[in-house]
Amino acid sequence: MKKIIVVGATGKLGKEVVEGLEKDYEVVRAGRSGPDLKLDAFDFSSVSKVFASVGSFDGLVSCIGGTPFKPFEELTMEDFATGLSTKCLSQLNLAKAAIPFLSENGSITLTSGIIGDEPLLAGACAAAANGALNMCVSTLAAEYAGKLRINIVSPSIIENSVDYYGMLFDGFEPTSKESIIHAYRRTISAPITGRVLRLTRS
Ligand SMILES: NC(=O)c1ccc[n+]([C@@H]2O[C@H](COP(=O)([O-])OP(=O)(O)OC[C@H]3O[C@@H](n4cnc5c(N)ncnc54)[C@H](OP(=O)(O)O)[C@@H]3O)[C@@H](O)[C@H]2O)c1
Repeated sequence: MKKIIVVGATGKLGKEVVEGLEKDYEVVRAGRSGPDLKLDAFDFSSVSKVFASVGSFDGLVSCIGGTPFKPFEELTMEDFATGLSTKCLSQLNLAKAAIPFLSENGSITLTSGIIGDEPLLAGACAAAANGALNMCVSTLAAEYAGKLRINIVSPSIIENSVDYYGMLFDGFEPTSKESIIHAYRRTISAPITGRVLRLTRS
């Protein structure tokens, strides 16, 4: 059974991913509060130590992130720095820390979101962060070609989050749990790399 570390396992997205993997994979659930591994994605050396404690694994799935949603005139430089850091840099940090421990042709799956492609009012920071992440993946795939695979899943708002975001995503078709599960499993199992799997129809 492949061993997969899911970071952000307790979140709205991560919970669905975990439920969709645990029948066929050995899933290790990680986040600042665990439950299996406690780590903070911003702290490279501690993440490395935690991954080392697991030993070799076959996949990293990151379901962390989040950005401020505010009109552009209210967004400060600090908001942009926070959003880029929380959404993009933290996930790249996890990927970098995982690489030495991944089995041959193992997979890294990061998460962006529809706002990297489709405009949303108050979504400028999310657009910048998702776009930056999406643009990295083909370069990273080329850099690690033949050694490991790296892909991104880009959901729309997910069904279990519609109430949480209220009218912010009004008119966006929500991504179902089934679509999420298929996409993350595909990045783990299919011979694809450098891809952004967009779970949306615009
Ligand atoms: N929900 C949606 O509709 C949706 C749609 C498209 C894209 N996305 C994207 O999916 C990702 C997750 O969203 P979500 O709605 O599931 O968020 P969420 O419900 O807030 O969950 C975030 C998860 O990440 C963990 N986490 C947060 N900061 C961390 C850190 N520094 N180090 C390690 N773990 C950390 C949290 O656990 P701890 O607090 O224990 O660390 C939690 O398990 C984000 O990038 C979001 O933009 C979400």
